[in-house]
Amino acid sequence: MVVMPTETVYGLAADAFQAQAVGQIFQAKGRPANHPLIVHIGSLGQLESVAIAIPSRALDLAQVFWPGPLTLVLPKHPSVPAEVTGGLDSVAVRMPNHQQALKLLTFAGTPVCAPSANRFTGLSPTRAHDVDPSLGAFAILDGGECQVGIESTVLDLTGDCPIVLRPGDIGAESLSAILGTEVSVSGEASPKSPGQHPRHYAPITPVFLVETLLPEQAGLTLGDPSNPDQIKMNGDPRQYARALYAALSALDRKSLSGIYIERPPQSGEWAAVWDRLQRATSRE
Ligand code: TXA
Ligand code: MG
Repeated sequence: MVVMPTETVYGLAADAFQAQAVGQIFQAKGRPANHPLIVHIGSLGQLESVAIAIPSRALDLAQVFWPGPLTLVLPKHPSVPAEVTGGLDSVAVRMPNHQQALKLLTFAGTPVCAPSANRFTGLSPTRAHDVDPSLGAFAILDGGECQVGIESTVLDLTGDCPIVLRPGDIGAESLSAILGTEVSVSGEASPKSPGQHPRHYAPITPVFLVETLLPEQAGLTLGDPSNPDQIKMNGDPRQYARALYAALSALDRKSLSGIYIERPPQSGEWAAVWDRLQRATSRE
């Protein structure tokens, strides 16, 4: 297991074809065995080794968005160990847009599965020093600060209609524009996407959503901070997403009684941020 930087978050990576190595990832994260992992490829040529019956719309999207923060769910190649996909007959694949990740993939010469490098339900690291050393990785590759900052968009292409299973930097409208068809967005706790636990991406400190931070509260504000435990967030959804996990992780280290987050706008471009905020504040 090696911690690999990507443009979204740091991943805990291992050879996708070695069931034993894959098992180590589940063990290190404390992740339930039925939560499937994302397979990362370094070239389009590797796609055929992990997926079969690849629809042309997958290739259309790959051409535009890869390398990048888009994960495609496709029919699984029989040689991918069942451990990777939690027993499903589909596999999630993406090509990360990060030079070190692509170098690692080329050097390894094999696709690697890589969930976010954190313990189950915890915050995903977006900087090397936020990676939990107790995960037991052989090495942590420091690739600097992740430029996207939240996990990739997961798009299911196994059905008639493409479905966004996890919102991310690439929105449903952008996907729809390339495909020329409608792309739907799955609701909460989609049975199609195991591993979308309601409480996910959460710090240890309890997190609450509020309209406006009180002067004495600690948390994330869109206005001007009134104490040192308030972090000013950017009003642009992309910049906000990029800084979100690092900000939560910094506050989480302060042993506060609570972290309060001012509600961002409800509009569509905030969908991915809202998804993570709802999971961070879920009490389930
Ligand atoms: O940005 C990312 O995708 C990061 C970096 C490291 O690449 N990885 C990541 O992996 O977020 P992970 O394991 O934390 O998230 C995997 C997501 C889950 O939401 C899971 O439900 C979905 O992908 N997934 C994986 N395989 C699937 C499948 N066969 N069918 C449906 N959903 C799948
Ligand atoms: Mg994760």
